[in-house]
Amino acid sequence: MPTLNEIRSTFLNYYSKQGHEVVASSPLVPRNDPTLMFVNSGMVQFKNLFTGVETRDYARATSAQKCVRAGGKHNDLDNVGYTARHHTFFEMLGNFSFGDYFKKEAIPYAWELLTKEFDIPKDRLLVTVYHTDDEAAEIWKKVAGFSDDRIIRIPTNDNFWQMGPTGPCGPCTEIHYDSTPDASGGNLVNMDHPDVIEIWNLVFIQFNAEADGSFRDLPSRHVDTGLGFERACSIIQNTKGFTDFSRKPSNYSTDVFRPIFDILERLSGKEYEDVYPEPGTENQDEVVKTAVAFRVIADHLRTLSFSIADGILPGNTGRNYVLRRILRRAVRYGRSLGFTGDEFVLTALVGTLVSQMGDVFPELRGRESIIVDTLKREERSFNETLDRGLTLFEEEAAKLSQGIFPGDAAFKL
Ligand code: GLY
Repeated sequence: MPTLNEIRSTFLNYYSKQGHEVVASSPLVPRNDPTLMFVNSGMVQFKNLFTGVETRDYARATSAQKCVRAGGKHNDLDNVGYTARHHTFFEMLGNFSFGDYFKKEAIPYAWELLTKEFDIPKDRLLVTVYHTDDEAAEIWKKVAGFSDDRIIRIPTNDNFWQMGPTGPCGPCTEIHYDSTPDASGGNLVNMDHPDVIEIWNLVFIQFNAEADGSFRDLPSRHVDTGLGFERACSIIQNTKGFTDFSRKPSNYSTDVFRPIFDILERLSGKEYEDVYPEPGTENQDEVVKTAVAFRVIADHLRTLSFSIADGILPGNTGRNYVLRRILRRAVRYGRSLGFTGDEFVLTALVGTLVSQMGDVFPELRGRESIIVDTLKREERSFNETLDRGLTLFEEEAAKLSQGIFPGDAAFKL
């Protein structure tokens, strides 16, 4: 089974061989971009190349970009824990053309990488195109030999990608992976169904979304793609070389999360099972509740550690407040695993994350002690608040004679 590092390197090496500069991930704080709280995709560090404000000495790039989606246009926070594929922190693998190649090259590159380098069987892949994009549909027919029913035309924003309310954007073609037993999942595309998941988005950047809501034609046409690293790992690591489709791809049952879950199992005395709540069901059994809490804690640990390493500290406003809310969400789920106010579960997991990811992202190693100190301080302070609130609640509840909770106590809480 390929390791995480092999999967990442296969991607970057493939594009390097096609003449792309391998560019390091930018920090999570967008540079010179007040419209975004966090870097939310691979293209953010290249935004000024797309708009023509900046030029560099390369016209093709590839990267594995750290991303956070927890505020603003792309916000996955509330889903995290409850699905197999949502994260607040993830890596996005991407290839970019700055006025160089366009659809005719971008589509065959992606196809070759998926089917030859990653060996994904062709019958497991389906694509969508923006409904008016005949050119992309024709290229798919030629390159993949797809019939019309495997090239689904979508008239909505699902196939028109924007970084944020303003900025570079354009129609896109998305590649979906079908894990139904007989590869018959065409009708499940874009249904948020675990059997058919979007893995890669190829955006054909042609416009700049302006603050007044209009779309300005850009002077050149560009390519911006985003392949979710954890999703790629889930389909490559969960199917035993694409021979066993009985196991559904889950980002949380890959080596991305296993080392963290191992320690969390030891600390909590509970076992992680890769099970998910039935959509629309309120009451979950203990195994599912435990699984949700494991996923929340592990995901949020990554967001917090990478953000703190990039200089974003939990605080009271803007992105700092988003981070504080993420930390508090993780601590609350920690309580549901049985951790007490004297235990700092996030802090206890930092070392594992740093050993796992520190070679690829050395900033984690360099700032480990700042991450530990910050998390410990925040966890301690929130645990105290939680415990004070719980004590107050219990005292007032014990006094209840008429079944009415006193308004002033409710306000304090
Ligand atoms: N920039 C392409 C994506 O995030 O899907």
